[in-house]
Amino acid sequence: DPILPPDLSQCDPTGATTTNSQGQVVSLDVNCCPPYTDIQSDYKLPTFTTTRVRPSANRRTLSPEYIAKYQLAIQRMRDLDVTDPDDPRGFTQQANVHCAYCNGPYDQPDHPGTDLQVHNSWLFFPFHRWYLYFFERILGSLIGDPDFAIPYWNWDNPRGMFMPELFAVPGTPAYDANRNQDHIPTGSNPVVDLSLNSGLTDPIQIVNNNLTIMYNEMIGTPASATDFMGQPYREGDAPHSFSGGGTSERGSHTAIHVWVGDPRNEYSEDMGNFYSAGRDPIFYCHHANVDRMWTLWKGIPADYPKEITDTDFLKSAFMFYDENKNLVRVTVADALDHKRMGYEYEPSNTPWMNYRP
Ligand code: C2O
Repeated sequence: DPILPPDLSQCDPTGATTTNSQGQVVSLDVNCCPPYTDIQSDYKLPTFTTTRVRPSANRRTLSPEYIAKYQLAIQRMRDLDVTDPDDPRGFTQQANVHCAYCNGPYDQPDHPGTDLQVHNSWLFFPFHRWYLYFFERILGSLIGDPDFAIPYWNWDNPRGMFMPELFAVPGTPAYDANRNQDHIPTGSNPVVDLSLNSGLTDPIQIVNNNLTIMYNEMIGTPASATDFMGQPYREGDAPHSFSGGGTSERGSHTAIHVWVGDPRNEYSEDMGNFYSAGRDPIFYCHHANVDRMWTLWKGIPADYPKEITDTDFLKSAFMFYDENKNLVRVTVADALDHKRMGYEYEPSNTPWMNYRP
């Protein structure tokens, strides 16, 4: 059977945990349960006339107008933390969505003691697509621009293989001090390493290795849709370990989290742990590119079917607060085609496609 959406009334305010460096499960001192309401409805994708176009965060192409809008939207979201901490559209509440679905405060309905976990399985791409969808609509609504689109960090392209400047200006809303200080862009832009342990130091070699990694996780390695998307995860299943994730989730996706996270913090907060990752605005920019990878992968011809037709997958569901603070239930089936959801990605080069090792 499909994974059922969480029951918000059962969210455990003291239930957030993580694994420490000794491999022990330890409690986190954070309550990431969302505000509670028993009014909920099934979400219907709205009709639209304009498709929102998510721009590349590459600093050579973002306009000053766009940057100003983005910063204002994030600031308004941060302001809600202060004016109404229980507003589900607030920045901290948005970050807590990730913590609640990833660090254990939710059990699966009817399965007490079995955590609901949206990572390390085929739920990874659809969950994060919905998460970004509502985050984007909330930002748009806070600045009165329904066509507003979040940027994507195209770390798969050599021109995007460094931290986007948009996030690196101290004192601006998109800045976050909890990052690896060796990786913030300065005069020389440190190159992202899409491998967790390449041991490489020469930027040219890192870029070449990144392209090889992208080729492998998108084209070379997967022999089935679940190899790329992640393993099946059904009602009552205990969460999978890391190896249940697809090639992209385990690969470039995780590498960027680790590369951005701050090694000075106990759990590499912010980006280095699920519970805190959403506290860094760059999270949503990173995940927009992860989301884009899902689309690009689907478009690459392969000798296996790209669609997962298992109804346990298609009927799995999540709960989110929308831009009007309504609690809505969404399904994986409705997240398969992002054009139906009203957005697309500005094209950018994908040199890894021809980078067969
Ligand atoms: Cu929900 Cu990048 O993790």
